[in-house]
Amino acid sequence: MTTSVLGEIGERRFLREYWQRKPLLIRRALPGFQSPLTPDELAGLALEEEVESRLVLERGRKGPWELRNGPFTAEDFAKLPKTRWSLLVQAVDQWVPEVHALRAHFDFLPAWRFDDLMISYAPDQGGVGPHFDHYDVFLLQAMGRRRWRIGPACTDATPVRTDTSLRILEHFETLEEFVLEPGDMLYIPPGVSHWGIAEGECMTFSIGFRAPSHAEILVDIANGAAQRLDEGLRYMDPPLGSDVQEGEIPPAALRRVQRVLQEMAADSELVREWFGRYMTQRKYADLDITPEALPDDLRAWLRAGGVLERHPASRFAWSGAEAPFMLFVDGEALPCDDPALARLLCSRAPLDARALKPALARQPGRALLEELVARGALYCAD
Ligand code: SIN
Ligand code: CO
Repeated sequence: MTTSVLGEIGERRFLREYWQRKPLLIRRALPGFQSPLTPDELAGLALEEEVESRLVLERGRKGPWELRNGPFTAEDFAKLPKTRWSLLVQAVDQWVPEVHALRAHFDFLPAWRFDDLMISYAPDQGGVGPHFDHYDVFLLQAMGRRRWRIGPACTDATPVRTDTSLRILEHFETLEEFVLEPGDMLYIPPGVSHWGIAEGECMTFSIGFRAPSHAEILVDIANGAAQRLDEGLRYMDPPLGSDVQEGEIPPAALRRVQRVLQEMAADSELVREWFGRYMTQRKYADLDITPEALPDDLRAWLRAGGVLERHPASRFAWSGAEAPFMLFVDGEALPCDDPALARLLCSRAPLDARALKPALARQPGRALLEELVARGALYCAD
């Protein structure tokens, strides 16, 4: 059982009044919190090929707010100035189990909305500059102190600096200002400008949530739907009368086009399957998570005390309010006729012989578990 990171506000009030609406400072969200990882260990991750990392230098060699992409070398770090830069490492939750465990504190939100936990390190005065994100983010102070300035809500029309590839705001108006200590946390809704500046060396954990843009929703659903449509399905004229003016596209013709779009939008199976698949896509689809070996007999292995673990990069969701029941894993819709098993897979409960007994008793349950192990979404922990 984890304690609430929302402190006195509580989940109901937070979700009603703040989530996606207003910033919120939560002092002592995790009292006594200590980073499970040192700055050196974070820098070590940034040397790895598979890990996404970047450096932001306020006064770079190439100009202000210079962005450098990892992986880095020890020499890159040795050459950095003393102040005013920041190292950012994405998806540390996928690499460090103790960081992954922090996700449980955010179980009051749907797991499929979580994107990743990014960790930043900065020496004195370091940060990524005044900006806004399109995503909800919780900024948990993990080491040292950071001054956060909160500004107004922005849009893509808000002016940004043109002398850097980073989207740094041209003007920043401070509406609120807080200095965060380890264990304090700040929630920032999408679009709200913010600017964090390290006071001495500091580390900040950003818990970020994914949300497809309307453009992505339209393009992605339409692409999927288009693949299933017969080429013979074509625009058809409305009844053509003598009242159509030469060259005119009449409103009835436009309504025919709208109907095609409406039919796609009204197909709730299509929308449900697309959304489940989209929201469970792994952050790094190319990263190979396939296990090397499968036990010959999964059932016997579990009975002998084996436990299945969910891969930290894998994503699970289910949808069952409307038939058919659907289980989504890592961007795929998998057949599953067992809602209890799907719910178990999507939870944090241990996957041992006891929990899986009803599923293992049935062939489809065994087949699904084997399929998930073969895909690497579940792995056999010794
Ligand atoms: C940081 O940790 O410095 C950046 C996090 C953010 O502003 O979203
Ligand atoms: Co930000």
